[in-house]
Amino acid sequence: MALFGKKQQSAEISLKDIQLPEHVGIIMDGNGRWAKKRGLPRSAGHSAGAKTFRKIARYASNIGIKYLTVYAFSTENWKRPQGEVDALMRLFTDYMNESLRDFRDDSIKLRFIGDRSAFSPGMLKLMEENEEISRDREGMVLNLAMNYGGRAELITAMRSLAQDAADGKLRPEDIDEKVVSDRLYTSGEPDPDLIIRPSGENRTSNFLLWQSAYAEYVIMDVLWPDFKESDFDAALIEYAKRNRRFGGV
Ligand code: FPP
Repeated sequence: MALFGKKQQSAEISLKDIQLPEHVGIIMDGNGRWAKKRGLPRSAGHSAGAKTFRKIARYASNIGIKYLTVYAFSTENWKRPQGEVDALMRLFTDYMNESLRDFRDDSIKLRFIGDRSAFSPGMLKLMEENEEISRDREGMVLNLAMNYGGRAELITAMRSLAQDAADGKLRPEDIDEKVVSDRLYTSGEPDPDLIIRPSGENRTSNFLLWQSAYAEYVIMDVLWPDFKESDFDAALIEYAKRNRRFGGV
């Protein structure tokens, strides 16, 4: 994974010249550093990051991305100070309320991926209502990864396969890539083609471990709250220049 600076973008290429990825994943990283640089609490970085999320989700939908998966809260993020976790939960709740109230005519289909058992009944209700209200929409699928971890997702899938095997409903030789994919939170969706990680860190951080097997990573030297539509364009253009071989030659 190479750090990709904006200066490397070639000015003459525009989005209309390139093939867009069908599914983009984003690790929304750098909120804490953004806040620290300004002498603000980390929660202020998350609030700014939530604004960026709204802007980029809308933009991705408008330019024709079919699936967008954003890493909003990992299974490890509960270890953060309680005040920071509470601030994040408030941001998620605000967004889900806003989405129910203000985005009724929207084309975006909202899905939540991750282990829901840790969320409050109020948040669970909001998740279900948001999924229900947007179920038949035709536009971009927006996966919000909340209490998501790639390893936890695989363990859940393995347990469900093992249970079916124990119940005599599945033979070991029936297990193939499709059978596993169908047990993941992203069942029925294409794998991500491109994963963008702002803030310069070269890690997968437990994001879409199975699904990202052949994803192109674009690591960008910009903190998530500063991330602009032009950065998204730059990542798409960088992606289009890559030669994807899926293990072939
Ligand atoms: C990682 O940056 C970011 C998170 C753990 C939270 C991401 C959440 C948002 C951007 C808010 C999303 C809001 C909605 C409504 C979906 P970090 O805090 O680890 O940053 P650092 O590495 O600079 O400390």
